[in-house]
Amino acid sequence: MNKIAFFDAKDYDMASFKNANKDERFEIKFYETKLSIDTVNLANGYDCVCIFVNDNVDKEVIDALSAAGVKLIALRCAGYNNVDIEHAFGKIHVVRVPAYSPYAVAEHAMALLLTSIRRIHKAYIRTRDHNFSLSGLTGFDLHGKTVGVVGTGKIGRIFAGICKGFGMNVLAYDKFPAKDSDLTYVTLDEIWERSDVISFHCPLTDETKHMVNKESIAKMKKGVVLVNTSRGALIDSEALLEGIKDRQIGAACLDVYEEESDVFFHDFSGHIINDDILARLISMPNVIVTSHQAFLTNEALSNIADTTLSNIAQFEKEGRCDNELCYKCEKFGGCPQEHKGKCF
Ligand code: NAI
Repeated sequence: MNKIAFFDAKDYDMASFKNANKDERFEIKFYETKLSIDTVNLANGYDCVCIFVNDNVDKEVIDALSAAGVKLIALRCAGYNNVDIEHAFGKIHVVRVPAYSPYAVAEHAMALLLTSIRRIHKAYIRTRDHNFSLSGLTGFDLHGKTVGVVGTGKIGRIFAGICKGFGMNVLAYDKFPAKDSDLTYVTLDEIWERSDVISFHCPLTDETKHMVNKESIAKMKKGVVLVNTSRGALIDSEALLEGIKDRQIGAACLDVYEEESDVFFHDFSGHIINDDILARLISMPNVIVTSHQAFLTNEALSNIADTTLSNIAQFEKEGRCDNELCYKCEKFGGCPQEHKGKCF
């Protein structure tokens, strides 16, 4: 289990994994390309593939990995909507890093929100050009405003705490409300109807896909600010664009985008972007886009590398891993692990 094919490698990944692998216990081959059916042959001869959010591990890729003798898919992230874990069951084990720094993501969500509503992105460009006019930079206080937090797991709860620190009224929605919190849980419709700001921290599932759509946008307060640091497809991008054009949505802060996989993490500054919706969204004065960077802190990168390698080491040693993913665990709210600690 010591040979790892590492896909979608960026310079910061290589630095953090080389540091975590100082003793060279693992032989890691870094590939800049993403894992897909076109690149899966690069995994031949490896025990494990290490992947990130935009590698596409569908049925075909899983079958090809399994045929190539790969035993483990090690996600170096928390979200796993890009892996068909149901198809992987019985064929190839999947592990992930469930938490590396929820603070990194929650703090980025607040950074985006403050940047947007206080027009920091505009002011920064103006003053660099020696333009000291304040015209058009009027914002609003967060204090006293209502924020709706959708998904109150690790990140959502930290974000809710940050918002309370700002004196905001926090409303929460979660399919499985936390029993050990003092959050005020309401229905999703109440989140739409009562919130001045809505921030998304739930996973992408069939149920949450396009939860922000034409109908839900119509229920929201006029001028609502949407913050998405979770997964792009929670929001129907076309409906978002229409909502912004209609002035129903006051601002959007997006660290993730539905069709981000071919665009984010790459430098297209000298090229024409083919995604018209993304290009139009970016052109809006009240939309801020960062390219899936909410996780990107030194602390998170180091935790990601340490946990990924210890997941692989645990799997090698024990034939199981505390951070294993399986669709049964997800579907039935806790796999019985009847196979003595392994999902299969
Ligand atoms: P978590 O698993 O601790 O919390 C997710 C919460 O969502 C849970 O409380 C769960 O009950 C809730 N949930 C599940 N289904 C739901 C539904 N249908 N409606 C409402 N809530 C539902 O996950 P964590 O660590 O807080 O991460 C949240 C999301 O943030 C991840 O799913 C991931 O997509 C995203 N993320 C984004 C990063 C970035 O760099 N932008 C980095 C890390 C995570």
